[in-house]
Amino acid sequence: MTAAQALQEIGLAEIEAAAELSALDAVRVKFLGKKGLVTDALKTLGTLSESLRREAGATLNATRDALNTAIALRREVLTEQAMHEALNSSAVDITLPGRGQRAGGLHPVTLALERMVGIFRRAGFEVATGPEIENDFYNFEALNIPRHHPARAMHDTFYFPDGLLLRTHTSPVQIRTMLDRAPPFRIIAPGRVYRCDYDQTHSPMFHQIEGLFIDEHATMSDLKGLLHEFLRLFFEQDDLQIRFRPSYFPFTEPSAEVDIKLPSAHGFSDWLEVLGCGMVHPNVLTNVGIDPNRFQGFAFGLGVERMAMLRFGVNDLRLFYENDLKFLRQFA
Ligand code: FA5
Ligand code: MG
Repeated sequence: MTAAQALQEIGLAEIEAAAELSALDAVRVKFLGKKGLVTDALKTLGTLSESLRREAGATLNATRDALNTAIALRREVLTEQAMHEALNSSAVDITLPGRGQRAGGLHPVTLALERMVGIFRRAGFEVATGPEIENDFYNFEALNIPRHHPARAMHDTFYFPDGLLLRTHTSPVQIRTMLDRAPPFRIIAPGRVYRCDYDQTHSPMFHQIEGLFIDEHATMSDLKGLLHEFLRLFFEQDDLQIRFRPSYFPFTEPSAEVDIKLPSAHGFSDWLEVLGCGMVHPNVLTNVGIDPNRFQGFAFGLGVERMAMLRFGVNDLRLFYENDLKFLRQFA
């Protein structure tokens, strides 16, 4: 074996052993750099005779070429290896579980309200709205509740210093609608209402859905039939126990309230009032310029939280407004 061949074998072994790019470059400098072993050997060729120089030159050139080729191949391998390592260390493991981002859900009162609005829409009712800050005329006067009428005491009203008030029911939307348009009417008016009330079945802010049906033929039995069908659809229970109880509202005559009894598993073994209703009082129609001899109709006001309590088996209405996520997540 010539010295050049020995050099080549050692060089190839070191190239193969280089574990990273910097080590490979050190090997290249050691053999092929300006002062490298092969370079030095090439420099000594001038001292040889013509024939020896040709032969030794050829083997040394072959060694240099072999080492260059091996270095290039090894560099490719090491570069690819380095790239894989970089990719692996910065890779995202898509199989890891997420960081607990939960999907939100609608509030149970919203769920109940949307369910009720959907049922009335399918029965041909249109949605109307009105302001939560009202004046005395729409909330009381036009509804046949004059000042000093004892019925005002039933509504524990929040007043503003200037005499405006937070509406105590959605019934003022009846007045706004009837003043705004001509009969017949078939509307519902969902929204927030306010009363100075607070216990297991009362909260100071709650929701009602008002209903108003006015035409030339509406009767009390239409009202009963509509509400009965509505309650049956809402609760999906054919054997639902419903009670129409005679009641009093200044703006309807006759008037009734509806109570519902659900199994004691729902937390109530007793009757729970869910709505007030009745045939619209002739005085109310006259107040908004509608002829009570030609048009008649009925109205109702549903308590949304009460309906949600019964549907979801919640035994305290105040739970809806405590913002306890453990409670709310059950409905998501
Ligand atoms: C009224 O508010 C009448 N405007 C309903 C009406 C409309 C009668 C149209 C006739 C014609 P009442 O005060 O009873 O009636 O309230 C209606 C319903 O709202 C009640 O049956 C109950 O379900 C609910 N409700 C009343 N007060 C509260 C409260 N503080 N918290 C939660 N729900 C309530
Ligand atoms: Mg009542």
